[in-house]
Amino acid sequence: MADTQKKYSDTAIALLKADLGFFGTQIPNDLETYLQALAENNLQPRFERFMTNEDGTPNAMNAAWGGISEFAEISMCISPGHKTTKNILARKAFTVSMATAQHVTACDYVGIVSANDVPDKFSRAGFHAVKSEFVNAPIIEELPMTVECKLLKFNEDGICIGEIVNVSADESILDESGKVDAKKLNPICYDSVTHAYRTLGEKVGQAFSDGKKIR
Ligand SMILES: Cc1cc2nc3c(=O)[nH]c(=O)nc-3n(C[C@H](O)[C@H](O)[C@H](O)COP(=O)(O)O)c2cc1C
Repeated sequence: MADTQKKYSDTAIALLKADLGFFGTQIPNDLETYLQALAENNLQPRFERFMTNEDGTPNAMNAAWGGISEFAEISMCISPGHKTTKNILARKAFTVSMATAQHVTACDYVGIVSANDVPDKFSRAGFHAVKSEFVNAPIIEELPMTVECKLLKFNEDGICIGEIVNVSADESILDESGKVDAKKLNPICYDSVTHAYRTLGEKVGQAFSDGKKIR
């Protein structure tokens, strides 16, 4: 990743809202395909969640159940027994990257093996970590879009809530105007009916616009 800490201060939250399927008010045009596909197909965006173990080795898990819960907050349901959960509680920070079709095998691997049993699962997946400049957590080099978060709370229902402090994106997934291009990102979703990972289909409409025809 050439510039992992590229900061999109004006668009970071809007990009995130779009990528996670949140129907906000500042969604850039280039992410509407993804947004629309999520809504139309009732799919869960799929995330890789990262945190380091006590010895400093990076760790990651797969998390499908989550999304944006406030303007600059991300909420995800994660089990207390996961090594990642313990690491997040210890470090008070984590990062969330979009899983991509290109890295589907590695992304699934970190979701079926625990660092409680295989401490070096991160490197076995073929992933490499770089340090976040914004939070005390690593960024996975191979996945091109990452949300960096400070832990706000982990409640009794297993909901982990983080404050989004930065969004980093690799230049390879940006369009000519510097915004994340959903087609270049090529994120995958988890289809819980068939347990399949799916990419997104074609654009079928224009958010915050099509509905005006019958308003
Ligand atoms: C497709 C998929 C989605 C998953 N979603 C979640 C989730 O939303 N929450 C959760 O707690 N675990 C989820 N898991 C399970 C964890 O990723 C898995 O238990 C992982 O091995 C935990 O790793 P760790 O103990 O090293 O943190 C999911 C796994 C897969 C394959």
